[in-house]
Amino acid sequence: MQITVTKTQNPKQKPTDETKLGFGRIFTDHMFLMDYDPQQGWHDARIVPFDYIPVHPASTVFHYGAEIFEGMKAYRGANGQIIMFRPYENARRMNDSAERLCLPQIDENDFVEILDTLVELEKDWIPHSEGTSLYIRPFTYGNDPHLGVHAVSQATFAVICSPVGAYYAEGINPVKIAIESQDVRAVRGGTGYAKCGGNYAASLRAGQRAEAKGFTQVLWLDGVERKYIEEVGSMNVMFKIGGEIVTPKLTGSVLPGITRKSCIELLRAKDYTVSERLLSVDELFAAAQNGTLEEAWGTGTAAVISPIGWLSYQDKEYTVNGGAIGPVAQWLYDELTGIQWGKRPDPADWCHTVC
Ligand code: COI
Repeated sequence: MQITVTKTQNPKQKPTDETKLGFGRIFTDHMFLMDYDPQQGWHDARIVPFDYIPVHPASTVFHYGAEIFEGMKAYRGANGQIIMFRPYENARRMNDSAERLCLPQIDENDFVEILDTLVELEKDWIPHSEGTSLYIRPFTYGNDPHLGVHAVSQATFAVICSPVGAYYAEGINPVKIAIESQDVRAVRGGTGYAKCGGNYAASLRAGQRAEAKGFTQVLWLDGVERKYIEEVGSMNVMFKIGGEIVTPKLTGSVLPGITRKSCIELLRAKDYTVSERLLSVDELFAAAQNGTLEEAWGTGTAAVISPIGWLSYQDKEYTVNGGAIGPVAQWLYDELTGIQWGKRPDPADWCHTVC
């Protein structure tokens, strides 16, 4: 595909202290933009200096939440190569989200070529320290300039990049999670499986309440029976109960995480029993009470592997594995980041070399 590149005349200073990167607060020098309309399809693919984007005030994105996104990372490999992790999986999921939200889809090869081109241009922004990476945020938004409620016909696809450290302030230390009993994030038939901004907007109130009580994030229950564990919002969840690794099955209201899928594949290859099934909050707390809940952790691109040390639901509170990271979560973290950073073998060809 044809991508025009306009380089910035004012490169920014790159962060010098990589321990203070945080998550998604610093942006690189350039961004990618491409427009869509039904007559021309996707057109005007361009890399331009990072800046504000002019958007018509009537745009569909502002009024009806027509927006989808992905979260990906580029890493510095052990031999100096730049690596992205399973980018075609993100391309496919982005298209599934686009289909649900009536936004235009992007050819998978074009999607990866765009990321390769931008990441190569921005490669000096990829931090060097262990646990850091360049977070890549592709997103598509509808920008039809009128207020009728209808499927989007005009859209823009954009990609921005941010050098990041750990998503949670806790890093790899266990987080405190509150199981939400009031609000719901998604229902089957809705947009729960799509990565759209609206899902996250709907989660903010419960997240704010949980944070005020000292929790890191909220664990969502299913929206119908309010009984089955779904996901955290910024990550999928896994539990080790009596030797079995249980993760909520993809019922349509849970995000099909790429880190989730990779962890399941790694665990099965190591002969762990992994069940993708319904897990009720009652079963979880019964396991916590009778001592069979051995470990809990979240999986996500931003969160990587995030051990869950404390769980609360209504008036009950449980400490998991003494509030410490467990052996399976630690193994998954080491294995996954080892593959991503090019330090461990990559038997399933997950690493995509950018340059
Ligand atoms: C990711 O893990 O990349 C996400 O998109 C989760 C969150 C930061 C919204």
